[in-house]
Formats: sequence, structure tokens, C-alpha cells
Amino acid sequence: MELTAKKHSIPLSDGNSIPLIGLGTYGNPRQTPKGTSYEAVKLAIEIGYRHIDGALVYYNEHEVGQAIRDKIADGTVKRDDIFYCGKVCLFLWNTFHPPELVRPALEKTLQMLQLDYVDLYIVEMPTAFKPGETFYPRDENGKYIYHETDLCATWEAMEACKDAGLVKSLGVSNFNKRQLELILNKPGLRHKPVSNQVECHPYFTQPKLLEYCREKDIVIVGYSPLGTSRDASWVNLKCPPLLEDELLISVAKKYQKTTAQVCLRFNVQRGVVVIPKSFNHDRIKENFDIFDFSLSEAEMKAIEGLNKNIRFVELLMWADHPEYPFHDDY
Ligand code: A2P
Repeated sequence: MELTAKKHSIPLSDGNSIPLIGLGTYGNPRQTPKGTSYEAVKLAIEIGYRHIDGALVYYNEHEVGQAIRDKIADGTVKRDDIFYCGKVCLFLWNTFHPPELVRPALEKTLQMLQLDYVDLYIVEMPTAFKPGETFYPRDENGKYIYHETDLCATWEAMEACKDAGLVKSLGVSNFNKRQLELILNKPGLRHKPVSNQVECHPYFTQPKLLEYCREKDIVIVGYSPLGTSRDASWVNLKCPPLLEDELLISVAKKYQKTTAQVCLRFNVQRGVVVIPKSFNHDRIKENFDIFDFSLSEAEMKAIEGLNKNIRFVELLMWADHPEYPFHDDY
């Protein structure tokens, strides 16, 4: 299939489709001035992005929604041109994991966005925390208070949101094979997860999970496809900076592209959706400019060979959670 700036969607197992490149919208709320995400999303839509990845817990979903609605209002796009992915977030709004809280979380997202539906709604982490008002609940010793996680019950609540027309497609994020199988083998399953959003880039190519997901018709959406912001407060910096890799530099030179564009093209070309975050106008443009070159089979193989099997995003603070997904091989 020839991928172009106008046509780069791939099918999902439920009959819908997903654009292979989307704009990630998470920026540290404390360091991001008001209006930044609004401008970024507006510009992205003007450039040709049709997929926006966001979340209630990013604290900017209202800006993202405003930008989408303004671009609809000025005639640049129609609502059904846009693919928006929202999340039942468990990082902060852990209160939203128990099944009865899934729909209110989605309704809150829709209220923030001021849209009638989202295109994809995903369970952001398989781990749940104690329900309550506090983000990151901890006990008197500073230990996170977890909640017994019934992923199947959560999934049934997700299914009800689709049946109610609030979301077109359902997916998950950071699920390992065992957790995906729990859902896929759930008695009475009505809607399969269409996607699994996980870290994916040339230093963490996810060969086994990718193969498993392909078998099950689950699209991999790669977060941090450029190797993250390298923010020392949460990123594993044992892994060297991806964008300074020598092989990527030499491939980039050959096509007069940047290493970021080579990383994105690599995943897109193998059917992995990418959602690079950028709030910088030049980089938002740069990241979308990946449809005028293609990597040879040998280059794809060589880039696959860069895999170090090391995560930048380990989330080790929750490593003792019974559903922590990254202990398993994949
Ligand atoms: P910025 O917003 O300043 O462009 P994530 O891992 O969440 O997708 O984040 C990607 C990180 O890489 C962000 O810190 C983003 O910062 C930066 N970035 C995005 N596009 C590029 C690019 N083309 N070249 C270098 N850095 C990039």
C-alpha cells in the first residue's frame, strides 16, 4: 500500500480505521504554558494530521477539543475526518479504573472535548489503584495503595460505552500478552480490543508483542516513537539517545531527512502507528513529512537490528503491582 500525506490509514478489526501518524499531546502541565496544546493541535490539523492522541489526565484535553472544534468550524476538516484517542487513565485518575467509573471518565473526556464521541478509547494501564479522591494514593509509609484489578470487568464497562455510541473503537495500552489474552478469552466478549498502545521505536522494536498482536488483528500504536523527552524524573536514561544513533544518522543523510523522520517512517512502514508528541511548530511539521521517501528492505532490517530491548518508560514505581505489565517477556 502506498502511503501518502492524505491516505495513510490502516484498518482496525472492528471495521473502522486509524491514521498511521497522530500527534501526541502530553506535555508536563507545570512546564507548558496555557494555549500551547491548542496551537499545536490547530497547526497539526492544518498540516494534515488527522489523528490526535490525548487524555483527561494530560490536563489539556479542553484545549485539544477546542482546537479540533475550531478546525471543524472553519471548514478545514469535518468531525469524521478526525480520529481522536482518549484514555481511561490510571496514572493519576486511578479512581476511574473500577468498572462503574469507566463511563463517567469517558463522559468527562467528552465534556472537556465538547465532542459527541471519541474514535478510540483505551485503558491506559492494566494496573488499578485504590478508588478515591486522591491521585496516587499512598499509605502512611509512602507505599502506593493498589486496587484489585478485574480487567475483564473493566473491559465490559468499556464495551457498554461503545454500545452507547460514545466511542467507535476500543483498545488498551501497556498490556502484555497475558493481559491481552485475558480480554480476548473473556467469556461473552462482544468487542475485541482493536489496538494496544505501547512504547515502540528502533531501540525497543517489540518483535514478539508485534507478532502476537498481528496474529490477533490488534494494531500496535507506538508511543514515544522518538525515544521520549529524556526527562530524568521518569525516563530510564541508561539507554542512549535514540536520535543520535549512528545508523539512523547515516540513513537520514541518504534521504536528506532527520533521524526523527527515519524513526517514524520505520514504524509506519511496518504498520505500527506512531504518535510523536511535539508542541514545537517546526517539529510538528517535520514529523508529518515522512511520506516522500521509503526505506529499503535492507534498511528496515538494519533498523530492526538496533533493538536493545530496553524500555525508556519502565514505570518502576508500580513494579510491585500484581498487574505490572513489564515483568513478562512480552
Ligand atoms: P517538543 O515538544 O519540544 O518537540 P513523546 O515521547 O511523548 O512522543 O515526546 C517526544 C519528545 O521528543 C518531546 O520531548 C518532543 O519535544 C521531542 N520531539 C518531537 N519531535 C521531535 C523531532 N522531530 N526531533 C527531536 N525531538 C523531537
